[in-house]
Amino acid sequence: MEKILCPSLLNLTSDALAEEVRKIDKSGIDIFHLDVMDGNYVPNFGMSFHEIETIRRNTDKLLDLHMMMKSPHRYIERYAECGIDIIYIHPDSEIVPTEILAMVRNYGICPGIVINPGVSLESVKELFPIVDYVLVMTVNPGFAGRDYLPWVEPKIEQLVKMRKAYHFHIVIDGGVTWEIMERLSRKGVEGYVLGKQTYFGQTEPYEEIVNKMRLM
Ligand code: DX5
Ligand code: ZN
Repeated sequence: MEKILCPSLLNLTSDALAEEVRKIDKSGIDIFHLDVMDGNYVPNFGMSFHEIETIRRNTDKLLDLHMMMKSPHRYIERYAECGIDIIYIHPDSEIVPTEILAMVRNYGICPGIVINPGVSLESVKELFPIVDYVLVMTVNPGFAGRDYLPWVEPKIEQLVKMRKAYHFHIVIDGGVTWEIMERLSRKGVEGYVLGKQTYFGQTEPYEEIVNKMRLM
C-alpha cells in the first residue's frame, strides 16, 4: 500500500519558513500537516493565517489543517481563502459536527475527523460515510514530541477493518517512529504524520528519509 507521508510543521527547527517549505516539498512528501491551536481546546497556540499563507505560496502540495480549537466552523471560510485542501475537525469541538463537515465539503475542501486517544470508534462511526480522512491521535493533542500511546493500537486495527465499507484514508498523528510505522503499515495503515522521531532534525536530508520510507 502506497504511504501517505505528512510532515508536521509544528516540528520545524528552522526559522526560515518559506525556504524550509520548499525543501520539504522537494523531498517527495504527500501532504503538509498544519496544526492550528486556540489555547482553549488544547493548552497551546499556533499557527497564524500569515504563516499558512506563506506556506501556501511556497508549495503546490496538499495542505491539511488539523483544527485543535473550539467551534472551528467560525474559521472555515478564512482557511478556504488560504488554499487549504483538507480540514480535520475534532467531532467534540462542535455541537453538530456533521453540519461543519458538509460546510467544509461545500468549500471544495476534503473533510476529515480526528479521533482522540480516549474517544471510541462507536461514538464517531456515524461520520465515516461523509469524510475523506480519519486522523487517529496516538498522543493527547496539543504538543509535538509526546510518546506514542500503545493502548490506542487495538482501535487502529478495528478502524482498518471497518474502513472496508467506506472510502476514507487513515492517518496516524503523534509519536510515530520508524518501528511504529513499519508495524502499522503491515496492519494496513497508509498515512503518517511525521515529527522529530523520523523526519525533522535528522542528520540525513529530507529526501533520503522519504526514499527510505517509500521502500519500507
Ligand atoms: C500533536 C500534533 C501533531 C504533532 C506530532 O498534537 O497534532 O501533529 O506535531 O508530532 P509528534 O510526531 O512529535 O508527536
Ligand atoms: Zn496534528
